[in-house]
Amino acid sequence: MLDSHFFSFSDGTLCCESVRLDELAAQFGTPLFVTSRQSLVSQYRAFEEAFASLPHFTCYSVKANFNLSVIRALAEEGCGCDVNSGGELYRALKAGVPADKIIMAGVGKNEAEIKYGLTSGVMMIKAESISELRAINRVAEHLGKVAQVGVRINPNVTAETHPYITTGDSKEKFGIDEDGLGEVFELFRTLPNLELHGLDMHIGSQIFDPEYYVAATQKLLEVLESARHLGFDIKWLDLGGGFPVTYDPQKPATPITKFAEKLIPMLEDKGVTVIFEPGRFIAANASVLVTRILYRKKNHIGKEFFIVDAGMTELIRPALYQSHHEVLSVKQHDKSVVADVVGPVCESSDFFARHRTIDDAPEGELLAVLSAGAYGAVMGTNYNGRLRPAEVMVDGDEVTLTRRRETFEQLVQNEL
Ligand code: LLP
Repeated sequence: MLDSHFFSFSDGTLCCESVRLDELAAQFGTPLFVTSRQSLVSQYRAFEEAFASLPHFTCYSVKANFNLSVIRALAEEGCGCDVNSGGELYRALKAGVPADKIIMAGVGKNEAEIKYGLTSGVMMIKAESISELRAINRVAEHLGKVAQVGVRINPNVTAETHPYITTGDSKEKFGIDEDGLGEVFELFRTLPNLELHGLDMHIGSQIFDPEYYVAATQKLLEVLESARHLGFDIKWLDLGGGFPVTYDPQKPATPITKFAEKLIPMLEDKGVTVIFEPGRFIAANASVLVTRILYRKKNHIGKEFFIVDAGMTELIRPALYQSHHEVLSVKQHDKSVVADVVGPVCESSDFFARHRTIDDAPEGELLAVLSAGAYGAVMGTNYNGRLRPAEVMVDGDEVTLTRRRETFEQLVQNEL
């Protein structure tokens, strides 16, 4: 039923590690994100174990869950970070990640962000266009620095996933395609404040079939050959993130070892350090969103609704990608019903589950929306004047409040 043994029932109540979710809801209120620290760490270790025989470095993609405590837990394991903006760089540094373990990515970084990355001393700054390479050179020159650059290649591989999260296809905005590479190499010869150290790709997210990685890696290796032939000393080959997790027990994700089995033989003798940027794989199943049933109602066509106090403002994935999230009653009941689980926001897309068999829990009780750790809180909004929820982290029987619930004053604090 559950992908992770860090969330399990004990005496009929859903717990995170050894802490009951109903007690957390009583103490911190709802909606509430609850994260298992042990789950985060164990996913990171599973990833490391799968790729242990390959010279590699793992940079957690903080966009999946950028809570400082989440970043810190992984940094304590030795993990680096992949950041997509100045704001994410600020978070990673604030969480104590050394700059030389941070990769700065992003298809549209402005000059202030590039400057922030270069002055912080990030390990590599990535470029996704010729114009951006010129901008990085300009900023580096101004700072009297030489930027260590990675170039993102668009391998034109269309990985099968939701169309909004496939990124390696020529129709998408990401990366530089093969035709543009001659000009890229020429720029590195002529612009004095750039050094080409890495080649990069990221073909999408929640990709089940390792063959897409094989196809794209093949293309990246061809580019590596050409770059070396031209005399560039490429140290890093960055394969991006995208490794899948199970959201729906009926559709289990391909194990990470299957990706490693295919990729390691292709990469082990290439004389590069391979970089991975997993986000979802580490964070998705480490958190649940705990929400209270406000009302139940049944209409004249027999449709039944659980109206809960969390919605698309806390977890937009079902609305945006029609994604499946398991919904469990925190207290187990013998009887079940078929119902929609919906939020309080004034949009019909504000749902967590439709036509789902769910425990017959009464009004006032709690539900847990599972797999809410990646692209959950980070994609939250204040739409409808909603307050961003509190977040807690559990480690064994220890509980830490890692983000306070927002207040009405904070909703308007920047308005004049
Ligand atoms: N590296 C780059 C350059 C990325 O753009 C991403 C994700 C990652 C790494 C991490 O990918 P992951 O391992 O998490 O699949 N909001 C969507 C997912 C968007 C992913 C964007 N880029 C969702 O909720 O499914």
